[in-house]
Amino acid sequence: MIGIICAMEEELTSIVRNLDVTTSHIPSKSDFDVYTARYGRHELVFILCGIGKVNAAIHTQMLIDSYSIEYLINVGVAGSLSADLTFGDVVVASDLVEHDMDVSGFGLPLGQIPRMDVFAFKSDPILLECADKIKIANHKTVIGRIVSGDQFIDSKEKAEFLHSHFNALACEMEGAAIAHTCHVNNIPFIVIRALSDMAGRDGVAAHSFEELKNMTANHSSNVVKQLLALI
Ligand code: ADE
Repeated sequence: MIGIICAMEEELTSIVRNLDVTTSHIPSKSDFDVYTARYGRHELVFILCGIGKVNAAIHTQMLIDSYSIEYLINVGVAGSLSADLTFGDVVVASDLVEHDMDVSGFGLPLGQIPRMDVFAFKSDPILLECADKIKIANHKTVIGRIVSGDQFIDSKEKAEFLHSHFNALACEMEGAAIAHTCHVNNIPFIVIRALSDMAGRDGVAAHSFEELKNMTANHSSNVVKQLLALI
């Protein structure tokens, strides 16, 4: 089964619409919103995880524990950290770092989780190879680092810092936690995010996020659709 995890309902709706699948809601005793669908030769399971790293990790673990997940795809929107990337462009994560993990007091680099075997969580190489072939009309699709933290980035200084310090192309609030959970469980994953805002580099991140999240979510969904045809 291929797991598809989205933070927001708008992102989940966009991917279901793009794939044009009929979903079945799986009742659960808890708050988890799980749906399944068949898409070509793939059995898909969708989960809406909510916003932030803890929500993302809980829902990823629940998906892994409840279904036989072959690949996990996180799809949605992100803020752009690069002057070369604009609204609607898509960043496929080469790897992901939790930018708000700070144990620098003990000499660790910012983002390093203490006693963890890696600094950044790498997307699956086979999925990345497939993603590298994908193109969308009028927009770039690039592969690079994504950073995640429990912060909506809406400041030029912070955006420039995340870009220069981590060499990251995009920021969001769940990807690295999903990647972390997949790493611990040995599940291949990929994170695909379309850029809904400039993370405050133009001074209007929250406004642009609200305006553009649906349009841009459509771009990341389009990339997932193409990816599913390749795997
Ligand atoms: N998701 C979309 N835009 C974002 C931003 N600027 N910061 C964090 N998460 C985001």
